[in-house]
Amino acid sequence: MATNAYVEHAPGYVDNVGPKVVTSRFGDPESYKLERSEATGGYGALRAVLQMKPDEVHGQVRDAVLLGRGGAGFPAGVKWGFMPPVWPRYLVVNGDESEPGTYKDRLLMERDPHQLIEGCLITCYALGLNTCFLYVRGEMALAQERIAEALNDAYEAGYVGRNIMGTDVSIDVVLTWGAGAYIVGEETALIESLEGNRGMPRLKPPFFPAAKGLYMKPTIVNNVETLANLPWIMLNGPEAYKQFGSEKSPGTRMLAISGHVKRPGVYEVEQGKVTFRDLFYGDNYCQGIRDDNDLKMFIPGGGSAPWFFEDQLDLPLEAADVGAAGSMLGSGAIVVMDETTDAVRACLRVVRFFARESCGKCTPCREGTTWEEKILQRILDGHGRPEDIDLLLDIGSQISPGPYPVAAFEAAGETAVPFPPKQTTICPLGPSSVAPITSAIRRFRDEFEAKIQAPEEVPA
Ligand SMILES: Cc1cc2nc3c(=O)[nH]c(=O)nc-3n(C[C@H](O)[C@H](O)[C@H](O)COP(=O)(O)O)c2cc1C
Ligand code: SF4
Repeated sequence: MATNAYVEHAPGYVDNVGPKVVTSRFGDPESYKLERSEATGGYGALRAVLQMKPDEVHGQVRDAVLLGRGGAGFPAGVKWGFMPPVWPRYLVVNGDESEPGTYKDRLLMERDPHQLIEGCLITCYALGLNTCFLYVRGEMALAQERIAEALNDAYEAGYVGRNIMGTDVSIDVVLTWGAGAYIVGEETALIESLEGNRGMPRLKPPFFPAAKGLYMKPTIVNNVETLANLPWIMLNGPEAYKQFGSEKSPGTRMLAISGHVKRPGVYEVEQGKVTFRDLFYGDNYCQGIRDDNDLKMFIPGGGSAPWFFEDQLDLPLEAADVGAAGSMLGSGAIVVMDETTDAVRACLRVVRFFARESCGKCTPCREGTTWEEKILQRILDGHGRPEDIDLLLDIGSQISPGPYPVAAFEAAGETAVPFPPKQTTICPLGPSSVAPITSAIRRFRDEFEAKIQAPEEVPA
């Protein structure tokens, strides 16, 4: 069986100049060990938190406006407040990171597992719960190994388990890992998987996890990076945290940049203070496009995000601004493509991912994504039909209703792609396949047309 245990992946972390909230230990090759964590302040925030009232801790997280880093950007402190006074209740950590282009949570788990465990313990204390499930993606063998070792050490040191640090607080952290399905990153599918069922999303509403989640009990699902911010926030306070970033999006963010830049990698940047142009071309960041080629397009927030082009280069890396411009920062995955990229092929690569990862629970996604993949493949193979472009848009509108099919799309011009997407599906995975199609056809329709030959010219 192939394994990636004890293998560092490339591209990895890039130590750019700027404040560090979650990557401060990444320069240390032994940062994942308990003694290195303790020597650099690890578990100091937990010690301080245990002297506070749980509500005070929750209040500080709310004041820090810690936005979720898993995709939707919902404030953690507000979400925590949705839990009804029902016990038992659970914390579930979403470490299933698999969005195309995303690899920041993996680095957090591999390089600083104690920071994450401390963030989990702070959350459990604030919410008055004593069981946390840490769910790690199946393929991340190194992350699993390091978290397992970190948990064993933390239990032995008295940071996790019964009577933490001599107090009457007891919290267990249960490590569990998936089988490697992207859809299990969706919070209700993750809960199903934890319960031992097939990882398929639940219909929301009527129930949201904060009210009825794991075993139908109140459950907070938070992303790895979201929780990794907590030790710093609790040690330094919400006001210090808000000194970084912008008013709407305080703090820093980890961004994973891949594709045609000279220095790809994960960068921790202040939210809203850096533009896409700074990131792609700045000496402190990616240092330009490979071979000094021109930029053709970029995906600003993971495979499910609509594409951006050179017109959006000066937007700040800030969720609200990117959202207003018609896409999302999502999971912090930026994929850069230069002028040599075939737009139709790039579109197929992303759509194929969603088609393969569809869980099959609802028809528009199960049938539609596969159909989209087949059409794109035949266009690339030289068997495309003139009506295929409109057919792609039409299928897209059955999965994610919008004004883009055929004439309406063309008449509506640049504003035609609806975002955030509407959906006829149970979860947003289906609509994710539509974003690359509408993005590519909107901008590069001529490339699709050039590949589509008249039926009599199609090679046998
Ligand atoms: C198809 C799909 C995949 C997702 N994958 C992830 C993931 O890998 N990691 C993650 O944290 N959130 C993922 N999410 C978002 C989660 O459902 C959830 O919103 C998030 O874990 C909440 O954490 P946060 O509030 O800290 O951001 C995904 C959502 C969808 C629809
Ligand atoms: S949209 Fe796709 S992935 Fe989501 S529930 Fe439906 S079939 Fe499953």
